[in-house]
Amino acid sequence: MKIKAGLFQFAPAFGDIHRNVDRALAALASASAELIVLPELFSTGYQFTSADEVRELAEEVPSGFTTQRLADFSRERSIFIVAGIAERDGDRIFNSAVLTGPKGFIGVYRKTHLFHEEKLWFSPGDTGFRVWETAVGRIGIMVCFDWFFPESARTLSLMGADIIVHPANLVLPFCPDAMVTRCLENRVFAVTANRTGSEERGGRERLDFIGASQITSCRGNILARASRDREEYIEAEIDPAESRDKQLNQYNNLFTDRRPEKYR
Ligand code: ACM
Repeated sequence: MKIKAGLFQFAPAFGDIHRNVDRALAALASASAELIVLPELFSTGYQFTSADEVRELAEEVPSGFTTQRLADFSRERSIFIVAGIAERDGDRIFNSAVLTGPKGFIGVYRKTHLFHEEKLWFSPGDTGFRVWETAVGRIGIMVCFDWFFPESARTLSLMGADIIVHPANLVLPFCPDAMVTRCLENRVFAVTANRTGSEERGGRERLDFIGASQITSCRGNILARASRDREEYIEAEIDPAESRDKQLNQYNNLFTDRRPEKYR
């Protein structure tokens, strides 16, 4: 069954959760995709400058404002959304992504591989990689820098993911091209939703986000790639079930040819 997967890339206004959520949902008002991905930390912005600031902006899942708005929107439109948010759980803060669907909140993934100063603010994710069976296919989530570790996409694929959804705030230029390899080596679709703009807060190093959000097929084809600097909604038609045939040719199978006893 073919579905449409889409993403919205934009430059969130740091700290203005209500504005960012309104803006993203307004942009999706006319979108027709059944699965839509928003960037990492889309509701808060990225460059935190103190633990207090992170704590103030982080929200509980699923009871917090952002997750509730996403869940309501998903229910109203009967679609699935994956979006990156700062999650507060007791004393700990996670760089998380929530999944919502036609029945509301579905689940959360907490980023496994923290990047750069994220290590000052967030606890390393403790959910492990997760895959959800949904009406639009088996959805696995990773967040931004997780891509740098091939084990992330491999683990999600071995767990049965058809589509890796990938909220991101990329600053290094390599990821969009690298996702071709991740998708090829795992025969899995990927939807990388990055942000645009820049942040330079509290005397810290300026961060320029690279845009170039991308939908990649399970054969490694770039189905859609956004601009480097414009706010943009893009989408592509995919058949998630295509990812389930791991046979490369008559002799090679991407999964059964693996020789884990030779790896370390
Ligand atoms: C990143 O993980 N936000 C680069």
